[in-house]
Order: sequence, then structure tokens, then C-alpha cells
Amino acid sequence: MNRPVFDIEHAKRILRDNDLGGYTVPTKGLYPFQWNWDAAITALGWMEAGDEPRAWLELEMLLKGQWDNGMVPHIIFHGEADTYFPGPEVWGVENAVKTSAISQPPVLATVVRILFEQSKDRALAEQKLAALLPGTIACHLWWYRERDPENTGLVCSYHPWESGMDNSPAWDHPLSAVPTVDWEYTRRDTGHVDAAERPHKHQYDRYIYLVDFFKRNRFDSDAIYKSCPYRVQDIGIIAILQRANTDLLALCQSRIDDDSTRSLQASSARTAAAINELWSDELSCFVSRDTLTGQQLKTISCAGVLPLFGELASPAQASAINESLDRWIDGAPFGLASTHPDSETFEPQRYWRGPSWLHINWMIALGLEAYQMPERAEQLKQVSEACLENGDFWEYYNSVTGEGCGGGEFSWTAAIALHWLKS
Ligand code: GLC
Repeated sequence: MNRPVFDIEHAKRILRDNDLGGYTVPTKGLYPFQWNWDAAITALGWMEAGDEPRAWLELEMLLKGQWDNGMVPHIIFHGEADTYFPGPEVWGVENAVKTSAISQPPVLATVVRILFEQSKDRALAEQKLAALLPGTIACHLWWYRERDPENTGLVCSYHPWESGMDNSPAWDHPLSAVPTVDWEYTRRDTGHVDAAERPHKHQYDRYIYLVDFFKRNRFDSDAIYKSCPYRVQDIGIIAILQRANTDLLALCQSRIDDDSTRSLQASSARTAAAINELWSDELSCFVSRDTLTGQQLKTISCAGVLPLFGELASPAQASAINESLDRWIDGAPFGLASTHPDSETFEPQRYWRGPSWLHINWMIALGLEAYQMPERAEQLKQVSEACLENGDFWEYYNSVTGEGCGGGEFSWTAAIALHWLKS
């Protein structure tokens, strides 16, 4: 294939247009603030666009929203906008920098490592690494301390939005146990995007109940751990955190060797020892688990492939997953479909229930490479390029037709194209 299949200048222009002064919005209107894992992915794009200081700045701006306990929130409300719900007043966080009260998949350390290794300005890279390491370590320690207080090795999440895969069918069952909010609100998302591509009201009512619940509990970690009506060990977060841990510890080598790095090593080993609890023989895939019922959540989703990225799968598990990808890609050629196309809950255009996201494909391709499956990694690159062939950088793609969905001129899609699909 002749690369690249996309307009490099267009991709760079998207980053510049979405730049609100040190941070990049995912897309104007629909998502007018800085999002956690979007920021990390977008920094890769800034680096590839040749603006190293700007790449580092994206991450520094993200950490400006970090809580004292180490959590890096999922949204940092640097500015004001009335096009998004729920905004800062609904979350009710009273820090100087307004934020949401949950986190998102911690791909940050992995990105810091890539930036550090790719950077040409070595003095700047050393300086930025030194500035970013303490916050990044604190973020990892937070995950293990606050989200795995019983030291199971498997951190948990309190909200489907925390997974970054907001509307995955894997969350249907645990979310149905959450009460609905009892006050009226106006959604903003369906004003920007076709409702057929967005979650239903019955799901939104529960998302907002949880937002209220955190506020009512004054964001107290112990109280929330004990009584949150939604508590899921999310295989996507666990796998991304594991990979990020490895990258973080590699960056710490010969720089930091103290209780924090030893603690991260121990946590990472616990995760590796516990991961089989999230393997389903029946589905031949990794799955998430509802910790309130103890039940595995039996959905074959892209999150269940991410343990390759975290290098958590055994060789036998990796080859079982690889085999399932044949049918997965045949059934939805503009993949990788976020839910397996043979699944009853598969909807190729609805948010996290079947469309494909290119930054997920990138992580999975890295995982496939780690497991010596370069042809499959190349296939994921090709299906990702096929999505871009209609010329725009959409939030995500219908995995059956390749049609762009959600928001247009989207930062992480442009960024991952620049970082991964340029050559
Ligand atoms: C949606 C996605 C989430 C992303 C955010 C901003 O909420 O589900 O993963 O971070 O949009 O792009």
C-alpha cells in the first residue's frame, strides 16, 4: 500500500484548529474541554507535526487538573463552554482548576515514553520528563491505592465514562443496577450528533445519577468504594495501566528508585498474577467483571483484546484472540469493531457498540507486534487506513460501511493518523 492515504496537512490543521491555547479539544462543540486520554493521544500528533514543545505542553496542561490524591480527571474544564453537559457545576468539584470526578484509561505514561524516545530536542525532553514524572507516578499510585484498596491486582472503575468506552454493551448489566437520577436535565450531545449514534436516555439517567453520587459522597474514596452502585474491573483500563506501568518503570530506571517505584513493581506483578480471573474460556477472550455480583461481563469487545497491549496474555490466550480476529474483521471490514460483529448487541454505528476507533487499533497493533504477529498488526493498519479513505478524520467509523460518525475534524483521529499511519 502507498502510504499515507490521508492528507497530512489536513491532519495537522485539525490539531491547530482545535488548539485552545496549550490544550486541544477533541472536537469543537461536542467536546469543548480537555479530555484525559484524548490529550495523551493528541500529544503524539503534535510531536509528529514537528512541534515538540507543544506536544509536551498538552501533557503539562492535563496534569494541571490533577487532584492532590494523584487522580488525573477525565475532563479538565480549562475554559467555559455551554455546549457540553454535564459541565463543572454538575460535577461540583471545587478545586482551583475545575474537573470531572472520575478518571480515564491511563495511556499517559506510554505516551510520555514515546515522546521522550522520539524527541530531537534532548535537553527539552530531559527537562519535560523530569517535570512530568512525579505527576505520572502519583497517577499510577492513585489507581492502585484508591481503586484496588484490597490489593487484588485488578483496579476498578466507578463509571462507564471512566472506561473511555462509554456505551459498551459490557456495561449494560452493571449500569442497569444503578438508580436513575431524579431531576430533569438537558443533554447537549444529541444537539450535535444524530441520536442514533449516541446512548439512550435510560443510560444517561444512570450516568448522571453516578455523577451526583460522587458529589453527595464528597468524593471520599473509602465511602465510594464501599457503596458505589457501579464497580467494575474494566479489562481495558487494567491492560492500558499495565502497559503504562511498564513504560513508566522503564522511564524511572536510573532516575528514580524509591518506595513508589517498588510499589508500582509489586502492583504490576499482582495484576499479572490475577489476570486469568478475567479470561473467559467460553468466549476465548478477556472480559471485565462486575465486582458487586462477582460475574464476568460476557461481551467480546476491543477492550478484551487490549491485554495484548499490556502483555498480560499467555501465548495460548494471544493465539486464541488472534484466531477470533479473522471473523471479527470479515464481519466488519472497517474495524476493529468495538463489539464483535457476531454479538447480539453489535450496532455498527452506535457509540462503542460496534464502530471502530483508530487509537484503539493502534494500541492493539502494538500488542500484536509484542506477540510476534506482525501480519495481523499490518492488517489492523490497513483497516484503519480504509476508514480514512473518505478524506475526513471522524471521531469513529461505522465498522461495516466505513462511514465517519460522531464528531468531525477530530483530534485523536488526526493525531493517530500522523503518529501511526504516515509511513
Ligand atoms: C467520548 C468517548 C471518550 C472520549 C471523549 C472525548 O466520551 O467515549 O472515550 O475521551 O468522548 O473524545
